[in-house]
Amino acid sequence: MTNPAATVRIGFLGAGLIATYHSKSLRHSGAPVVRAGVFDPDTERAAAFAAASGHTVYADEDAVIADCDAVYICTWTSEHPRQLAKAVAAGKHVFCEKPLAFDAVEAQRMADAADCAGITHQVGLVLRFSHAYLWAKHLVTDPTAGRVMSVVFRDDQFIPIQGHYSSTWRSDKALVGAGTLLEHSIHDVDMLQYLVGDVQRLSANTANFHGHEGIEDVATATLRFAGGATGTLTSVWHDNLARPSLRRVEIFCERRHIVIEGDDWYGPVSWTDTDGTSGSLADQALTEAVAPMRDGSDNPDGEFIRAVLAGSGASPDLHTAVAAHRIVDAMYASAAAGGEAIDVVSA
Ligand SMILES: NC(=O)c1ccc[n+]([C@@H]2O[C@H](COP(=O)([O-])OP(=O)(O)OC[C@H]3O[C@@H](n4cnc5c(N)ncnc54)[C@H](O)[C@@H]3O)[C@@H](O)[C@H]2O)c1
Repeated sequence: MTNPAATVRIGFLGAGLIATYHSKSLRHSGAPVVRAGVFDPDTERAAAFAAASGHTVYADEDAVIADCDAVYICTWTSEHPRQLAKAVAAGKHVFCEKPLAFDAVEAQRMADAADCAGITHQVGLVLRFSHAYLWAKHLVTDPTAGRVMSVVFRDDQFIPIQGHYSSTWRSDKALVGAGTLLEHSIHDVDMLQYLVGDVQRLSANTANFHGHEGIEDVATATLRFAGGATGTLTSVWHDNLARPSLRRVEIFCERRHIVIEGDDWYGPVSWTDTDGTSGSLADQALTEAVAPMRDGSDNPDGEFIRAVLAGSGASPDLHTAVAAHRIVDAMYASAAAGGEAIDVVSA
């Protein structure tokens, strides 16, 4: 499936916040793309996106899919499975935003369909490209650290139906599926797996302070990992507009303590070892430290286009997301059962 012209015609479904992010990121990557169609039923948004990006507003999603090599699915979550099915049936490469769907069963169907079509597929679990998490992974897997014993993962932000998100759909269960755990902390679940490994068993509770039906705004979980570690995840959507998306991750290894805080990409990441040595990396120093560890660039969109042109698989692909969905599903099942401990169904 190598593209002989060595350019990729890109289409966009959805012209909102994350579509704009990917469009800008594609430009920064310098990837050889041709800007084709964009469709969004919000015609003002579609027009603004087109004016800024060089795409052309098309009449409907079918026209966008027909006239591209690769399509970005950046619509609200309820639309992802249907639009991905159409795109892969047409043999188009797909970059699909997270969450893929409302549950792991649907997400698995999407990944299987993409595999069957032989297309390149990638999911928007962008923390997989973060400098901070890559460096933390290096610190965790360094034999000096010993085994991971425990992890404390906290993620909080103001509920994103206000502020710069100003999205109403995130309070509508039919469009978003659920609240902070599925919509936001699927990133965190993915990073917990990335840093510590497979989650085997968990117990979770959720709460709903805002009162939007089916939209939990607090989720807490206790996790047992296959490697023997235990950990916790706390995810909160509050009304403190001074706190946009903020994560703090603390990892306790046998002989090393690691903290990721500040910026999701640029840290700082700090660590202290049993011999009293400690370190901290942020910003440019962090970027330089992880550069040799990468197979490719730190730009998710540039890497997607590179994979499309090479006719190869991309990373993280839809299967990476399915694994995170399975854990999220288990958390919701546990919460629905009053916090009962539940085994995570593996592939
Ligand atoms: N990877 C990340 O870090 C990240 C960050 C933000 C959002 N997201 C995900 O991206 C998706 C979109 O979120 P957003 O923040 O950009 O929301 P948004 O509200 O800014 O944009 C979504 C757009 O989709 C459009 N849309 C709805 N149905 C459509 C259809 N059938 N065809 C075409 N367009 C349609 C809406 O009109 C809206 O303009 C969500 O699934 C969200 O979870 C991912």
